[in-house]
Amino acid sequence: MRISVFGAGYLGAIHATCMAHLGHDVTVCDVDAPKVALLSSGHTPFFEPGFEELLQATLASGRLVFTGSADEAVRGAEMHFICVGTPQQQGADAADLRYVEAAFNTIVDNVDVSGTIVGKSTVPVGTAQRLAGLVSERGEDDPHLEVAWNPEFLREGTAIQDTLNPDRLVFGVDSQTSEKAMTEVYAKLINDGTPYITTDLATAEMVKVAANSFLATKISFINAMAEICEVASADVVTLSRALGYDDRIGSKFLNAGLGFGGGCLPKDIRAFSARAGELGAADAVSFLREIDKINQRRRERVISIVGNIFHGDFLGRHIAVLGAAFKPNSDDVRDSPALNVAATMHLKGASVCVHDPQAIDNARRMFPTLTYCGSLKDACRDADLIVLATEWGEYRNIDPNEFRALVRQPILVDARNALDHNYWSESGWQVHALGRGVLNR
Ligand code: UDX
Repeated sequence: MRISVFGAGYLGAIHATCMAHLGHDVTVCDVDAPKVALLSSGHTPFFEPGFEELLQATLASGRLVFTGSADEAVRGAEMHFICVGTPQQQGADAADLRYVEAAFNTIVDNVDVSGTIVGKSTVPVGTAQRLAGLVSERGEDDPHLEVAWNPEFLREGTAIQDTLNPDRLVFGVDSQTSEKAMTEVYAKLINDGTPYITTDLATAEMVKVAANSFLATKISFINAMAEICEVASADVVTLSRALGYDDRIGSKFLNAGLGFGGGCLPKDIRAFSARAGELGAADAVSFLREIDKINQRRRERVISIVGNIFHGDFLGRHIAVLGAAFKPNSDDVRDSPALNVAATMHLKGASVCVHDPQAIDNARRMFPTLTYCGSLKDACRDADLIVLATEWGEYRNIDPNEFRALVRQPILVDARNALDHNYWSESGWQVHALGRGVLNR
């Protein structure tokens, strides 16, 4: 199928590349000329394991093109994917839909053959129906357009696998024509056994925000338990393991720590609350505000643990923060709990050195006043305290005996419960962690 994709960000670039990999002819349009040039030359503007290799192989096949020209992307295409961002509005909780609307209007203005506009961006429920209403008013001589919604569930760090081998596909449609188009474009995945659900536009939009709300709730639930463990001398890691064995609960997304961040979960739960309010159903999701608050409190808790260790005096303390990305295997620092903690300690007067295997450039752009260190050992040298803030694999391999010789004081705050605390303690470290009242006994 000849496809256009609008937006060459995280979602669009990966979706487009995977679609071309599946055999479609894909042209991606983005207004960011340097990004278009970079992707066209086979290089990726962000870190995602396996993406650069797949991009290069797919470009070589000739089925994938990046362009700044909407006309070039749309001409002759039967399906148009909208993959642009829906960030949080400035000064409000609601989603900013201006990029979705701009992409939609651009497609409508440029189409020369009949086809389907498929939204993948996360939008407030009701958006797709509104857009569908706009195309239904087109003149009889214009090419016919349908609107469908096909939410995306890819996670940063496993985005290729999530796209080529998803848990499920969801097709929000309001006609048999667009249902047929959706099953055709994903025929390979469906034939390989991927389950798919066809539903109306509103339900499809809701699947995405409901899924992210559930995941955020699960994380904040275990982090709320961590708060109790801290005051009850109990251990959240053992609690989580014991809960996770229950099939009905499951162990995934039950890791207590510094909580969730990134470009999706925080803004999606806020936008969902805002939309529920507009629909007169604010009470139904008022708990999401509590989920957000629990999540924010974990960041404050790390600051208070460090503050207690230093008797409230951060001035002149050397602190190494391990991790800047919002999670491992990503260079994304949007709403990163790690950077939030690092910046707060810096503002309190500490001298903070941040290490991250991939995210330093992005972190520096966001917080230019922090110190960054490309070498893990240099970051920890002469530190009065180490905070493990993002659980990259390489941090699990740190030899506490070797690092004890580097630091000024062997004090560790493991904010992700990622390290072997017994081993670190036996190696002479004072260990603190979230939800582990047991350490304070
Ligand atoms: C999320 C959804 O998982 C994905 O389906 C959607 O398409 C986009 O939003 P992503 O933002 O890539 O994906 O990250 P995810 O893996 O969901 O992690 C979100 C945050 O939760 C991270 O900050 C992570 O560190 C944190 N987390 C995750 C925990 O704190 N504890 C856990 O047990 C799991």
